[in-house]
Amino acid sequence: MSTMGKKIKWGILGCGKIAHKFAEGLKVIPDAILEAVASRTEGKAENFGKLFGVENRYDNYEDLVENAEIDVIYIATTHNFHHENALLCLNHGKPVLCEKPITLNATQTEDLINSARSNNLFLMEAMWMRFIPCIVKLKELLEQGIIGEIKHLTANFGIKKELDSKIRSFNPDLGGGALLDLGIYPISFARMVYKQPPSKIQSSAYIGTTSVDEKSCYLFEYEDGQTAMLSSSHRLIMPHDAFIYGTKGYIQVPDFYHPSEMILKLEGDKKKTINVPFKSTGYNYEAMEVMHCLNTGKLESILMPLDETLEIMKTMDTLRSQWHLKYPGE
Ligand SMILES: NC(=O)c1ccc[n+]([C@@H]2O[C@H](COP(=O)([O-])OP(=O)(O)OC[C@H]3O[C@@H](n4cnc5c(N)ncnc54)[C@H](OP(=O)(O)O)[C@@H]3O)[C@@H](O)[C@H]2O)c1
Repeated sequence: MSTMGKKIKWGILGCGKIAHKFAEGLKVIPDAILEAVASRTEGKAENFGKLFGVENRYDNYEDLVENAEIDVIYIATTHNFHHENALLCLNHGKPVLCEKPITLNATQTEDLINSARSNNLFLMEAMWMRFIPCIVKLKELLEQGIIGEIKHLTANFGIKKELDSKIRSFNPDLGGGALLDLGIYPISFARMVYKQPPSKIQSSAYIGTTSVDEKSCYLFEYEDGQTAMLSSSHRLIMPHDAFIYGTKGYIQVPDFYHPSEMILKLEGDKKKTINVPFKSTGYNYEAMEVMHCLNTGKLESILMPLDETLEIMKTMDTLRSQWHLKYPGE
């Protein structure tokens, strides 16, 4: 994927864990310059700037959005701040790449989309899975009908974390819960494969002592009878393998949110491994897509379009309403 050669100056808003991985990914993109970083936590931007050789280090977000040199801002704060942070950037004329989930709910997403579109500014959710070369190849193979008509898929995302009401995974004030953090991946994967939202949504969630879903499961049905069985958890170790079942066979996608291979099993044939490795952290591909869009005047990406991001947020709103799970202020 080419970025079309023009240098793009990035700003990073929020200097937490994922911001470090993203900055690492930027290093391998020749036309990417990390121009400035901002953190509201004392000393964090300073340390981050030293680590990645960034000259402009701010202890507030306002200085970042007012820096006229910056072409695009990557938002890496916790979910609850995304809406407010993205609006700040858009209102200062800055294009935005915002971490997943783009906001807490569909109403906030709609607001951001309206703001970006009315200001003619680029906006994208950082659903990095969509840009990993193996996923791009998978889409191509599915479109060619390699496994026939797709009928069913399964995908799970579970990471075991110690229960701690303060950390973002479990803290409702920070948008905690497995669905918004991890479940969004299998849901986005299913949306990508079926190219439509589910027509029927059934689910089950275990709401833990901190009042967010520690584990949740989703059963989706689609217009033509296809199905998806998905789940996520902050308390269980799960294999991150997705399986897509078609009328001619199936494809297994290990580590489906950042795969480097797929295993194809067609009826009557032996299993075949298709290797499509990725470089660096993998976050470089979403950044390259943003740069390509900026350099070619596109206001959104065809690989992660805004209407699809909104649809996925609506699906997650429906799931949460089934569990009566609301976040503070909703
Ligand atoms: N794409 C991926 O693979 C991936 C992986 C992990 C996370 N994420 C997403 O990235 C976002 C950040 O996740 P993370 O793990 O990097 O989070 P984190 O390190 O816990 O926090 C990120 C930043 O959010 C702000 N923040 C965190 N807790 C806060 C609090 N209690 N009060 C005020 N500000 C607070 C801080 O910003 P300041 O620096 O300004 O203080 C912090 O540096 C989430 O939305 C998550 O879904 C994506």
